[in-house]
Amino acid sequence: MLAIIGGSSLVKLPILEVTHRQIVRTPYGDPSCPLLFGRIGQQNVVFMARHGYGNSIAPHEINYRANIWALQSVGAKSVIAIGAVGGIRPDLSPGTLVIPDDVLDYTWGRKHTFFEGVDCPLVHADFTRPYSDDLRHRLLAAAGQSQVHFSAQATYACTQGPRLESTAEILKLERDGADIVGMTGMPEASLARELDVAYAHLCTVINWAAGKGNSRQAVTFDAQCKQRSVDEISAVLTKLFE
Ligand code: HPA
Repeated sequence: MLAIIGGSSLVKLPILEVTHRQIVRTPYGDPSCPLLFGRIGQQNVVFMARHGYGNSIAPHEINYRANIWALQSVGAKSVIAIGAVGGIRPDLSPGTLVIPDDVLDYTWGRKHTFFEGVDCPLVHADFTRPYSDDLRHRLLAAAGQSQVHFSAQATYACTQGPRLESTAEILKLERDGADIVGMTGMPEASLARELDVAYAHLCTVINWAAGKGNSRQAVTFDAQCKQRSVDEISAVLTKLFE
């Protein structure tokens, strides 16, 4: 079964025909919300809202371990994670969908591994290619058939939040090789890797990053672009499940 983790711009997935919901408890505490099971097309899907259905859990307060563990425990073999991001690279303007192929992690203090504690074996999960190639290719094919404006290559930088970045911080991320910036992609991706769950990221650019484009004086969000991105994500996911 495939899981979809919705971000702040996608708390509900209108194309999901919900059949039931389930509260899952985990050894790592409670996930962000009950899981919603249902169908998109003919496929069984499980959905969770990363920030909770009330969109109230801040990026640094999300229990990423409980979320990934809960999804795996109900049979999810792969996860498509939806996330809102700021655009750094000049071609990644608000309204663009991005399927990143690499990641930079600037988060700190988040519970970021399942492999810790005295009785736990020492495990170094491979993260050379942080996203599942197979799932990315399926997403890219679906985006290609959906008449949406998307980018197939970008490095995602994950910052700690909840505040947005300074201009100098964005310039530093840019020098590091970052193309887009968000707050929730890590440790979600690496925890999925630790549990052998295929993971791909579908990002929507909702603003220019601090100091870029129309965010020179202050980060400017475009409300219209948020609604459009819900429609475009729905179009891509519908194609994916056809
Ligand atoms: N920075 C960090 N996270 C974000 C941004 C941003 O500009 N936009 C959406 N999520």
